Amino acid sequence: MANKTRVVIIGAGAVGSTTAYTLLLRNRVDELVLIDANQKKAFGDALDMNHGMPFLGGAKLWAGTYEDCADADIIIITAGAAQREGETRVDLLKRNVAIFDSIVTEVTKVNSHGIMLIASNPVDIMSYFSWRKSQWPINRIIGSGTLLDSARFRYLIGDKLGIDPRSVHGHIVGEHGDSELPLWSLANVAGAKLQLSDSDKNEIFENTRDAAYQIISAKGATYYAIALALDRIVTAILRDEGAVLNVSTLLKDYHGISDVFLGVPCIVDRSGVREVMDIQLTDDETELLHRSADKLKGLIESISL
Ligand code: NAD
Ligand code: LAC
Repeated sequence: MANKTRVVIIGAGAVGSTTAYTLLLRNRVDELVLIDANQKKAFGDALDMNHGMPFLGGAKLWAGTYEDCADADIIIITAGAAQREGETRVDLLKRNVAIFDSIVTEVTKVNSHGIMLIASNPVDIMSYFSWRKSQWPINRIIGSGTLLDSARFRYLIGDKLGIDPRSVHGHIVGEHGDSELPLWSLANVAGAKLQLSDSDKNEIFENTRDAAYQIISAKGATYYAIALALDRIVTAILRDEGAVLNVSTLLKDYHGISDVFLGVPCIVDRSGVREVMDIQLTDDETELLHRSADKLKGLIESISL
């Protein structure tokens, strides 16, 4: 009999619990475990979702402990502080590094084979920290990166052109945050360049980059679309897809950038990030990507590793 697939989610807050619910609805895993410093919250979420099991696909779900990470294929980390209105993702850095210090220690005590999928912000730095702290191979530490931003970008382009976002190809790369950039040179529908004015492009990119601020101001947190993005990454891993996804990975001489996690198009399969895609960038895009990398490198220097 095939081995059971197990995903552990650490941090059963808005993002973690919505991700669990998404994985259950889409029948992605055999076993799903919720861990949270607030054990009552994880317990309550597990109970609530378990009461829906007669309508679902047969997964086992429970509120667990770090021991449950031992058999995990994927450990998703969504724990920690989230932005409040007026805060940037980077404002969370010190608080979330302290939280990750203990989480990564606990995970690596019991698991040495799995994949860590990081969503907590600032996600590129938290991924870098998790890689350094765990000393796991680079391919097995994945940040959700700019996958969510790229989805927002594709949605907004599709909305402007009246085209299904699934038929729009577009990439946001760099930091998942204020220094990210759009690769307009690669954006297309059916291989055709987009018929958009400069002002349409500016509006689409600004609404992409600032989407989280808009949602946090309206309702306090973002969680549905990131849950779907995490579900997409989990599926690419468990089904050994070789899907191209804009996740955050450690760059090595990528357009001259090294030693920083950034969101770029990567091939994701059962091994995690199998390969970083070699894509062509314009000079302007390369310069903006370097600026985004420099910002993150400055932040990495500010934390103790
Ligand atoms: P939340 O406050 O709703 O949930 C955070 C959870 O983490 C809480 O339940 C809390 O009890 C738990 N927690 C805190 N310390 C812990 C520890 N040491 N061990 C285990 N659990 C712990 O926040 P949220 O809205 O779910 O956001 C979670 C994180 O995800 C934030 O950093 C947020 O910025 C980030 N986020 C990232 C993306 C992305 O695209 N990468 C999208 C949305 C949110
Ligand atoms: C997002 C989070 C807040 O929705 O990073 O982009």
